[in-house]
Amino acid sequence: MPSSRFSLGRITLSCATLVCCGVAAWAQTANAPLAFTGADRRPALSLNGDWASIVDPYFSGLFSFHHEEKKNGWFLNRKAQPNDTGPTEYDFDKAPKLKVPGDWNTQRESLFFYEGPVWYQRNFTYQPQEHSRAFLHVGAANYHSWWWVNGKKVCEHEGGFTAFNCDVTEAVHPGDNFIVAAVDNTRREDNVPTLETDWWNYGGITREASIITVPNTFIDQYDLHLSRTQDGVIEGWTHLTGAGAGVPVEVEIPELHAKAQAATDANGKAAIHFTVSGLERWSPEHPKLYAVKLRTGADSIDEQMGFRTIETRGTQILLNGKPIFLRGISIHAEAPYRTGRAWSDKDAETLLGWAKDLGCNFVRLAHYPHDETMQRAADRMGIMVWSENPVYWALKFDNSQVYDKASQQLEEEIGTLRNHASIVLWSMANETPSNPARTDFITRLAAKARELDGSRLITAALLVRAQGNTKIVDDPLGKVLDVIGVNEYIGWYEAHPETADVTQWDIRYDKPLIVSEFGGDAKAGLHGSDNQRWTEEYQANIYRHQIGMLNRIPQLRGMSPWILMDFRSPNRPLAGIQDEFNRKGLISDQGEKKQAYYILQKAYKEGAVGKPE
Ligand code: GCU
Repeated sequence: MPSSRFSLGRITLSCATLVCCGVAAWAQTANAPLAFTGADRRPALSLNGDWASIVDPYFSGLFSFHHEEKKNGWFLNRKAQPNDTGPTEYDFDKAPKLKVPGDWNTQRESLFFYEGPVWYQRNFTYQPQEHSRAFLHVGAANYHSWWWVNGKKVCEHEGGFTAFNCDVTEAVHPGDNFIVAAVDNTRREDNVPTLETDWWNYGGITREASIITVPNTFIDQYDLHLSRTQDGVIEGWTHLTGAGAGVPVEVEIPELHAKAQAATDANGKAAIHFTVSGLERWSPEHPKLYAVKLRTGADSIDEQMGFRTIETRGTQILLNGKPIFLRGISIHAEAPYRTGRAWSDKDAETLLGWAKDLGCNFVRLAHYPHDETMQRAADRMGIMVWSENPVYWALKFDNSQVYDKASQQLEEEIGTLRNHASIVLWSMANETPSNPARTDFITRLAAKARELDGSRLITAALLVRAQGNTKIVDDPLGKVLDVIGVNEYIGWYEAHPETADVTQWDIRYDKPLIVSEFGGDAKAGLHGSDNQRWTEEYQANIYRHQIGMLNRIPQLRGMSPWILMDFRSPNRPLAGIQDEFNRKGLISDQGEKKQAYYILQKAYKEGAVGKPE
């Protein structure tokens, strides 16, 4: 690893010292983070691996307001002053390592419950290319992150579950470079999500990081999908950064001998519309992917894409024009076996492999956009996806800045993931309290989602109210959704498993319904009678009665029981049973399948639950 010390005249500055230049230059305006489609298809210099780390609970490295003279950073800033003879109180070269990607909570015992800032630093060697730009690509950093390259501030991003890209062209130079990041996972009331969640607040650079190189004029986003109205027509657009009007763009699908040429408008956007013959539509039974080549000038992207249509007709969901029932399961981004934040292809293959084995054609990726390895795997495996923006529980819906954060994360989610055939539903929210501010907030988000992508369905997981043994679905938010999601916990948080047998449903919308959560906790290996809570038998009993009830809901078109695998949550401390895990998984975090897994699997595989029409 090249040394990170640079001599600058008579002052020898360690890389960390140069951060202080960055810190001192903190007021510089960095480039706004951008969402790119297909960033994972581009040649990249990986920044994965060991990074030096400094835990900074008082964030002295960036903000120190206690003493005026220490303003704008203290111990990370001390060596900036040439006459400063004070002690150097930090040194990345001597600091312990943290792996990227990966949350810090499961890498270091002392950080298991930690919430606050952590500094990261690593060196990298880079060779800038002529007529090209360099972008820092980060799959996700939870929750708020600041970035410097060679002491120059290059980016700031808020949001723990969406990918972002920052232009570092002016900051990198040939040969040795270094990068520093500060990542703060502190929960705040005006964050998205807000203070309370039922999942572990895994902090850090939790997904892959890299430097991607693109031509000065390049394709930053694209949207190609089958027309719902014209058979055999692929429509959409490509957007070029660095382009004005009249720049030629080409889209080719060699296997279909199909090619489209177009030119950009004044905003760099080129409308694409071409007819293909012999196209095999993507579906769970036949997850056909095509090689798609997008080209413009010196830039090209080689994509793997499926083409299908998804729409509703009355209370039916139509995939490629045919009614379909979404046999699903909910999934958190909890890594099987090792636990911690999931991010890898292997994590995705394991989780989605279990879902396939369960008999699923659908997964609800809760409660935030998952790593793009999940959607890529779902494309390949033929699993439809509900992707969700983390508007979770009681946000500050009357705060315009909170709306801007939710809207920014939605734009990043759709901008990054829009070309995955597996994604059929964009979920706006989960279990938000029904009040005018909330309904206005999410109505605006739904309009934004439709503006960004008119080819998919809009949903949300709603709470339902009860009158005796009748569940009433009348949340006003239902008016703006294409598909109504509802969460209910008959047999766990309410009543008894047998209550499901006498529960009626009063659904006030003539739209498809998905029961997006039901279930109960069970510790794998704990056995007893089926009315003994926390046992596998009790959880199995819930599933038996739930499935019976669901089959009596005429407009039910999907279900995603809560949840595939046990996941960590600070809200679940019951010693010896939960031990900081939510145990509603059908599988334990160590891969142990519980009795309820086999009940649901039998129902799915025998077609004993759910009617497509
Ligand atoms: C809620 C919520 C989930 C939570 C679950 C539970 O419905 O949507 O995030 O984990 O219930 O209480 O287990």
